[in-house]
Order: sequence, then structure tokens, then C-alpha cells
Amino acid sequence: AADPVKLMKQEVGKAAAALVKSGSIVGLGTGSTTAYTIQYLGERLQSGELTDIVGIPTSFQSEVLAKEYGVPLTTLDAVDHIDIAIDGADEVDPHKNLIKGGGAAHTREKVVDYLADQFIVVVDSGKLVDRLGSVFAVPVEVIPMAITPVINAIKQLGGQPELRMGVKKAGPVITDQGNMVVDVRFDSIDDPVNLEKVLNNIPGVLENGIFVNCADIVLIGEVVDGQPVVR
Ligand code: A5P
Repeated sequence: AADPVKLMKQEVGKAAAALVKSGSIVGLGTGSTTAYTIQYLGERLQSGELTDIVGIPTSFQSEVLAKEYGVPLTTLDAVDHIDIAIDGADEVDPHKNLIKGGGAAHTREKVVDYLADQFIVVVDSGKLVDRLGSVFAVPVEVIPMAITPVINAIKQLGGQPELRMGVKKAGPVITDQGNMVVDVRFDSIDDPVNLEKVLNNIPGVLENGIFVNCADIVLIGEVVDGQPVVR
């Protein structure tokens, strides 16, 4: 039988791609859900139903996928706005606040997603939480020379930091910008607006994965009676 999570991601990723209009500048998110968005954008371009779009990738991964599926790309230096950004998330709370960065791409994602006139989040229903930090740790991108003082400062704040290690690589995960990622567990994130600022104020931190007040629409993939649906 098909994996239900995969089905939900596929359905919601496609549903978001269907919202993109011809002539748009599109922020291309990172992860397994937006991989389907990029694939479907390519299919819509191929069929001629969609024309004249350009993508701004949020990672090396989304750049590679866009090239594979034939989605033309540009950079932020060449455009004066982004019409729509479509991106995944690791957690979504009832206020549409997010934790992102499970793929270590949150820094570029934040730049692109915040710039977009419309930011659409695509998740499967397993990503919904009452409170951020319930399941997922907060990813923090840190420049390598500052890793020890940043880890110490995070402990002072009451977080439990863990340097993210590679899966098929010896040593730490290195981001597209050449930095490291510290995943930080908090007992409870009562004020994500404040925590986002506090973490970014630690010298040596480039960006953290808390996204507040930026998502316009959250599309949620679910499986109902064995069938994937989007709400
Ligand atoms: C990348 O760093 C993350 O912010 C992703 O957007 C997030 O991890 C969602 O990934 P999936 O769609 O693979 O769950």
C-alpha cells in the first residue's frame, strides 16, 4: 500500500503548485513536500497550461530539482519582488507560526518566504501542534568559529543544544552557506516572537528556524478514508 504521509505530501504539494499563475516570480521551498510542488510546476510548464514563471530557490536541493523539472530560475538580484512562495514546515501552530530548518535550509527560506507577497505553507497533518517546540527542536544556523560560545549562550537561555551531525557524512552537517546547525530543545516555547529575536541576538548566530507572522495560507494534507485530501 502507498505510504499515507507520502500521499499527503504529494497532494498538498501539487495543490500549492496549482495556485501559481502565469507570469509569477515564485519562491521555491525546500524539503520532500515542496519537491512535489516543483515537480508539478514543471509539468504545468511542460503542458503549456502555465507560462512565463521564474523560480527563486531556497536551497541547493530546490535549485537541483528546478533544473531537473525544467523550472527556470533567477536570483534576488534580478527581481524587485516575489509574488508567491511555497514552502514546507516542521511544525505549525494555530497562529500559523512555524518551526522550519529540518533540512538545514531555514536561512535562505526565511529570506525568500518573508519577501513574498503571498507565502503558502504546505504540510501533512502530522506537522500541526498546539505549541511550537512540542515535538521539534529549533534549528539554529551558527558560523563555525562561534559554535562553542553560541552553545554556551543557548544553555544560559535554558535550551538544550545539540550540534546536528551528518547521516551519510562524518562530522557536523554543513549548510548551503558553509555553517553548522544546532538543534535546540526548549521545555516550552511560550513566546515564539520573543524567542526568535533572542536567539538571533546571540553573536555568531546567522538565523533560527522560528517563523512568526509570515505565513498567509497553510495547506494541510490529510488522508480521509484512505484518500488524500487538502484542507
Ligand atoms: C528545510 O530546512 C525545512 O524548513 C523544510 O521546509 C521542512 O523540513 C519541511 O520538509 P518536508 O516537506 O520534507 O517535511
